[in-house]
Amino acid sequence: MKRNILVLGILMIVMILGLCACGEQPIDNNENNVENNNSNEVQIGNNNETEENAVTTNSEGNALVVYFSWANHTEKMASVIAAETGADVAVIEPVNAYPTDYNECTEVALEEQRRGEKPAIKDLGLDLEDYDVIYLGYPIWWMDMPQVLYTFLENNDFSGKTIYPFTTSYSSGIIGTFDKIKNIATGADVEEGLHIFQREIDRDNYEETIKDWLK
Ligand SMILES: Cc1cc2nc3c(=O)[nH]c(=O)nc-3n(C[C@H](O)[C@H](O)[C@H](O)COP(=O)(O)O)c2cc1C
Repeated sequence: MKRNILVLGILMIVMILGLCACGEQPIDNNENNVENNNSNEVQIGNNNETEENAVTTNSEGNALVVYFSWANHTEKMASVIAAETGADVAVIEPVNAYPTDYNECTEVALEEQRRGEKPAIKDLGLDLEDYDVIYLGYPIWWMDMPQVLYTFLENNDFSGKTIYPFTTSYSSGIIGTFDKIKNIATGADVEEGLHIFQREIDRDNYEETIKDWLK
């Protein structure tokens, strides 16, 4: 019992430290290539105010890369997957954009998660029915998927489709999120997913990992 409490305590401390560190910056320990920007503002790939959603059509096939990314790490993974597979690309965007400030965003995300909210998302701009294979990407938020992923998964029918999840995080692993996708997207074949740490993406050390996974 005492051991369980101790292990739980250590896990919580590790998670809190990870989250605090994550708020600071893109971290790069390579001495020759240290990013040192003290702003908490980050460039967001898909956080625009329009109701139009970004859809990129590359393929004549039936594969789609669909992702949510607050900063741009998941987005970078999505770009490589799309380039390698020729899949179309769509972005999951909340109707009400998340704050651009990191700390504010973490607060909003935590509150959303505590309340089990399913924030409204914009229309994808395409018909999921047209796709058999879906590469589904997201960052880990508070040891889980962002709540907008729950909205996306619960609002759509994935029966008969094959889903390849991919995710990125600062220090956590996938935290059971691939199984959660399996449980929600009933009827879908959820294949082995891919996780890449944020630091590997910041160091541009991720493309080969994605290519190996796609093989
Ligand atoms: C709201 C929020 C919560 C996060 N929670 C976690 C977490 O629980 N574990 C972790 O390792 N990283 C966490 N992170 C860090 C992100 O998972 C990581 O920076 C990821 O690479 C960001 O992907 P993106 O650039 O596509 O948004 C969190 C980041 C945010 C903004």
